[in-house]
Amino acid sequence: MSVECNICTPEDRDRIGGICERVKAEGGLPVRCAHSRSRAKVDLWLYYLQIFSTAMRKKFLHRVYIDLFAGPGYCMDRDRGEIFEGSSLAAYKLKVPFTSYILVDIDKRATDSLAKAIQLASPERSRSAYVLNMDANTDIGRILSFVPVVESCISVAFLDPSGLDIHFDTIRRLSEYKRMDILIHFSVFDLNRNLERYRVSKSKADRFFGTPDWRNHEYDRVEFYRKQLESLGFIELENAIEPHAAITTDTNATIYYPLFASKHPLALKFWRNAKKARKPDLNRDLFE
Ligand SMILES: C[S@@+](CC[C@H](N)C(=O)[O-])C[C@H]1O[C@@H](n2cnc3c(N)ncnc32)[C@H](O)[C@@H]1O
Repeated sequence: MSVECNICTPEDRDRIGGICERVKAEGGLPVRCAHSRSRAKVDLWLYYLQIFSTAMRKKFLHRVYIDLFAGPGYCMDRDRGEIFEGSSLAAYKLKVPFTSYILVDIDKRATDSLAKAIQLASPERSRSAYVLNMDANTDIGRILSFVPVVESCISVAFLDPSGLDIHFDTIRRLSEYKRMDILIHFSVFDLNRNLERYRVSKSKADRFFGTPDWRNHEYDRVEFYRKQLESLGFIELENAIEPHAAITTDTNATIYYPLFASKHPLALKFWRNAKKARKPDLNRDLFE
């Protein structure tokens, strides 16, 4: 039976900054400390990726998985005391794999560990993987140079930082591709906690929303962000009234939403199917 991981105090976790130095995964690799709800989010994302990669296998010669905030590979579910595979490693190990993987993290400990984890998981597959120790925003041009420039190519990108760390210009660069589906972490927690700081001009929130106008949308910021995505051609978006995934605290306050965006109706259909299929299992952790 699993038990809560009590090795660290909250202060230890702040000091260490996400990567645990005490618990080790397979191969002695470090783990990222995470809540059960992060694990539920990865499970949902993986379910979507399975549908996607199986359906697209015969249609596109090149299928690219991009994880711009990839983490170290393994995570520790601190609520249950269990190690699980984070988004990048789990996507890499899919039964029907992508033809290439672009896995990015700004933290060298994370990319070093991830490079070892994927090598251990499948040395053959690692030939099609690029683990890049880069900044998802400022290095986005270099990162995207790893996407094949051919007609028969489709890509999926996961943008899962801890706060409002994705620049809208980064999304704009992704939107330049004809076939690119994205899942974006919209951090309600970061926005609300730092609202006063973010109200000053040229703030982190301005870079996230891509405009200072978010200040005029006090009650519908998620909807406003969706409109911003739509302006880039991501017209296949969940609507405000359908059930959507939300990461909440134990007292039901929303921490963040994983927002899905695509240019193709089939991708949105896949995402809705994934939500429907996973909802009964993930209800406690994920759905509102
Ligand atoms: C919430 S974790 C990612 C979790 C990952 N999806 C998983 O399942 O393990 C966020 C990661 O983003 C990385 N990060 C933060 N800012 C970044 C940036 N500007 N560019 C690339 N990576 C960044 C952090 O080092 C951290 O590993």
